[in-house]
Amino acid sequence: MIPATMALQQQRTNGSDLGTPIDRNLALEVVRVTEGAAMSAAPFMGRNQKEAADKAAVDSMRRSLGFVDMDGVVVIGEGEKDEAPMLYIGERVGNGNPPDVDVAVDPIDGTRLVARGLPGGIATVALAERGSMFHTHVPYMQKLIVGPEAAHVIDITDSVAHNLKRIAKALDRSVEDVTVVVLDRPRHDDLLEEIRSAGARVKLIMDGDVAAGLMAAMEHRTGIDVLMGIGGAPEAVLAACAIKCIGGGFHGRLWMLREQDRGILEGEGKKEGQVLELDDLVAGDNVFFAATGITDGELLRGVRFLSDERVHTQSIVMRSFSGTTRYIDAEHRLEKLRLRRATGEIEPRL
Ligand code: FBP
Repeated sequence: MIPATMALQQQRTNGSDLGTPIDRNLALEVVRVTEGAAMSAAPFMGRNQKEAADKAAVDSMRRSLGFVDMDGVVVIGEGEKDEAPMLYIGERVGNGNPPDVDVAVDPIDGTRLVARGLPGGIATVALAERGSMFHTHVPYMQKLIVGPEAAHVIDITDSVAHNLKRIAKALDRSVEDVTVVVLDRPRHDDLLEEIRSAGARVKLIMDGDVAAGLMAAMEHRTGIDVLMGIGGAPEAVLAACAIKCIGGGFHGRLWMLREQDRGILEGEGKKEGQVLELDDLVAGDNVFFAATGITDGELLRGVRFLSDERVHTQSIVMRSFSGTTRYIDAEHRLEKLRLRRATGEIEPRL
């Protein structure tokens, strides 16, 4: 086991036993964190400044997470402490009060989308009981995500064609009427070939497979039925948290894209090819997820700057315990926020 992983595990064993219910909807509190991050990143839309957009979102998220009533440990973050000064893996966030939670953050999923002014960039945070989120240093995971109707028929070890056939049957459709979303990457050439020869429709996305995973699980709203392909492992945990809340099926397998990943996997005591299901990615039923659109997308509208320093945001907020999903349209008054912050009347959150 590598030292960073040991340190993280130590932080996380101080938490409560899995299963103790969290009696507040923390997602309603962290949505203010994702709103703030989205508003901070949005001015960089289309300016081709990936790093600046990311920094603005990270700074905002870290500041506002500090005011949430929770004792959080970042499990999915910006990277290891030495490479990420903020929201690094193992960082304590929140005001230190109970509950003890694992925290997954992605201040921008789709940094390139925001930098280019393309659709689908979101700011997102997930929380779950301490010790319940999957952690790895292997960067990529193969993912197969569907909505609740097809959750019981997926098998990532089986062929694409067989999966699509079973998914279509579970959805009471023909394979030709099933739409699969896939990250547009050369590594997916064979996968795309298999999907197309099975007869299904394809939607390619440039980035942002957290939102795409949610969309696959919410097919009645989005017209997307399945997500297939290899994307980030951290993004997989975030998407799994959302799917825990809304229902759906998730199969993942850590993917050895680089030679050194085998060593990392071995060091973590994990097995190559092991199928990870929803409960392996996030255990228990105290899971919270919030996301705010940065650029306009199919899942969420992006940040709009209106007259009189008003800003509109749209967010999605979910809790696994109740299974409730809320969409929150918010109008923020920048001049009031600035004034309140300057006079110390409110902490630097929304
Ligand atoms: P970032 O915004 O952090 O760059 O992630 C965008 C993203 O598209 C994720 O949604 C996805 O999981 C990952 O990158 C795929 O990685 P890669 O771009 O290396 O194929």
